[in-house]
Amino acid sequence: MKLSSRLKPHEVLAAAVKSEADAAGLYAAIKEKVRSRLLLRKLDFLIFEEKKHRRILETLFGQHFPGQALKLPALSLLPASLRVNPKTLTVPKLFRTALKAEKFSEEFYLAARASMKDAASRKILEYLSRVERSHYFLVQSEIDLLERFPDSYKVEEAHLGEDLVHVGP
Ligand SMILES: [Fe+2]
Ligand SMILES: [Fe+2]
Repeated sequence: MKLSSRLKPHEVLAAAVKSEADAAGLYAAIKEKVRSRLLLRKLDFLIFEEKKHRRILETLFGQHFPGQALKLPALSLLPASLRVNPKTLTVPKLFRTALKAEKFSEEFYLAARASMKDAASRKILEYLSRVERSHYFLVQSEIDLLERFPDSYKVEEAHLGEDLVHVGP
């Protein structure tokens, strides 16, 4: 991915803040449709991380553009196909959207890193890229689980373990 050369550094950071807010919002929307306690905890973890990223980016913005107001763009840089209305999509489809958004974020931060000149900012953006990559794999694991156990997110606790214990003579 290459960022448009028309984007100024403060716009790159503002777009990044917007995409972190959207990411936290998407995971929060998935939470509304999930009952599995374990999955809720994983979603809380993802929301916690995306909110942390937002704070990191806001700090970075403040350091680079002191006194300048951080104005979030109406839309993030995500492709239109990933800007979904969570109410209309199923949980598996939302996870697949999140997966693509995480991949996009990983690549976006690498491109943003290339656009920054100072070593500290470059390191932070590389860190963010790597964390989004870890989210990608976390979300992929959930998709794999949902494919094998499609109803698991609809119940508070899965009793598979207990059922297995009772298997036998
Ligand atoms: Fe993030
Ligand atoms: Fe993420």
